Amino acid sequence: MLYPQEILEEVRMQNDIVDVISEYLPLKQKGTSYFGLCPFHNEKTPSFSVNSERQFYYCFGCGAAGNVYTFVMQMENDTFPEAVRRLADRANITLPEPQYTQQAKEQEQQRQRLFLLHKQAGRFFYEKLQESVGEEARTYLQKRQMHLNIQKKFGIGYAPKGQNELYQHLQKKGFSQEELQKSGLFLEKKGTKGYFDRFHHRLMFPIFDIQGRVIGFGGRILSSGEPKYLNSPETLLFNKSKNLYGLNFAKNTRKREIILVEGYMDMISLYQAGFKNVAASLGTAFNQEHAKVLKKYADSVILLYDSDDAGTMAAQRAIPILVQNGFHVKVLQVPNGKDPDEFIKQHGAKAFSHLLANALHYVMFQIQCLKQPYDFTQTQQKVEFTTKAANILAKLDNDIERNVYIAEVSHMTNIPQQAIESEIVKNIKKEEMTFIQDAQQQRKTQYSKNKKEIIKSAGILSAQKDILYLCASNIQVYHKIKTILSAEDFLEPIYQKIYEKIELLYQKSDTVFPAEMINYFELPEEQKKVTEIFAVVLHYNSIKDMEKALTEEVKTVKKASLDQLAAQAQSIEQVKKLVAEKRNVDSLYITIADG
Ligand code: UTP
Ligand code: MN
Repeated sequence: MLYPQEILEEVRMQNDIVDVISEYLPLKQKGTSYFGLCPFHNEKTPSFSVNSERQFYYCFGCGAAGNVYTFVMQMENDTFPEAVRRLADRANITLPEPQYTQQAKEQEQQRQRLFLLHKQAGRFFYEKLQESVGEEARTYLQKRQMHLNIQKKFGIGYAPKGQNELYQHLQKKGFSQEELQKSGLFLEKKGTKGYFDRFHHRLMFPIFDIQGRVIGFGGRILSSGEPKYLNSPETLLFNKSKNLYGLNFAKNTRKREIILVEGYMDMISLYQAGFKNVAASLGTAFNQEHAKVLKKYADSVILLYDSDDAGTMAAQRAIPILVQNGFHVKVLQVPNGKDPDEFIKQHGAKAFSHLLANALHYVMFQIQCLKQPYDFTQTQQKVEFTTKAANILAKLDNDIERNVYIAEVSHMTNIPQQAIESEIVKNIKKEEMTFIQDAQQQRKTQYSKNKKEIIKSAGILSAQKDILYLCASNIQVYHKIKTILSAEDFLEPIYQKIYEKIELLYQKSDTVFPAEMINYFELPEEQKKVTEIFAVVLHYNSIKDMEKALTEEVKTVKKASLDQLAAQAQSIEQVKKLVAEKRNVDSLYITIADG
């Protein structure tokens, strides 16, 4: 944990969950709870509740749950420490220096060294470009019309022809063999202890992280040949599926709209032409992690991939990922199979901004892709196209948008809007039906397959939850249970941890506050599991009833724990002992009232 528990608790208390959540969505009060439309799933009636007294939220619809940290983590795609810093800022609390574990400290030091190494390598390439060996590369850049100030801004360089010039250069700067190896910039010479530079005689593009630090390189061949681009491998610094090239510059425009291109040169060209809100996915398929990163800086994306088949396919794959992550998506393809870089070089910035203004809503793009193979003079083909188009339109939530595109399709095909509309309605119904049927089918098969086991494990699960709930609600219950159950008796690691934290929190005071408990867990899935325990209120008519229920649950858990031990037992004696213990459990009865 990066910050001490007291600080986490202080920051949490200074950020009332109702206030914080209200900044994101409207809430209506009902008693001590507040309700609103869940931001984590699509719904029309509010099932998202915020408990002001206990300072957590719980969605009865999708099960999203947690404290104020969880909420911010999910809304802002923050890590736990990021959420802590965000909320500390909000409450004007100055955080102490983060406390790293020894291992984290060492890793951080390694990362810092690798950042430095990459910076030096970037400088080396940049200088080589200016020297006489860089002449061919300089001519190449001129041919591609990259201005000097842009070359400088993007740190463009040249990797010389020699075998290991960079290696020697960095060695002289004091980097160890291990550091050089971890940088990914070198390849081991087979059969010797020597190293080759990975990049020879290539134009070098430093790859930046979001803070503008160099984390890797892409090297372009100067003539024709394979591979056209060679890239750094994944390292401690460079994660291909998270990095978007140029986002460090694009984010400064604060536009919340990003033009997404495929390549280094496309990104730089657009930037040079004044379209600075641009980033590149560098040939890797756009994925969920990219979307999460991008979400911090943008709400809309214009997909500007190459107009060839590969680019069109890549755009079609990126669309659902972007839509799922809540982006407004448009698609632009430059005419005549050119890539964006070529288009700008040939037609200039003004022509490009016209194109940009006419980017297609993604649905229209999908419909146009669909249309390609059909021949509208054939009625049968027209009908088939329209039926498939209706399928695409059925996925649109927004009625107004949908009507606009129904009109378009009707215009394209001369099929009346009403006919298309009723096809869409049919599709929506069909989709809902299959969804429900699938879900039911799944439940049925699961249930019949191992009905007994499911009932049993569901029983153990809920027993564990109830015991933890009761322990946290009442210190007397906890002291009693402690004499029977140890943390290891809980079968799920997360419940073991909660049980240990209950002990810890009781050492500080005689109440356990659920929202404080959640602070001990950094992952949203864990936080959700913790909240689930406290989100239901267990109610008993009398203490006797509670004791009875508790007794049964403790028995269930203890027996399950002993069964597990027995399954792992090494000797007959051990098994015998466990069986005896299990018999003892049967005679257990827990009383709270008279201590
Ligand atoms: P492209 O082949 O479209 O190249 O690959 P480009 O960006 O138009 O490059 P220029 O204009 O010919 O210089 C798009 C991106 O895919 C990655 C690179 O990031 C490239 O910018 N790529 C491509 C590779 O990583 N390796 C390759 O061999 C080719
Ligand atoms: Mn190109």
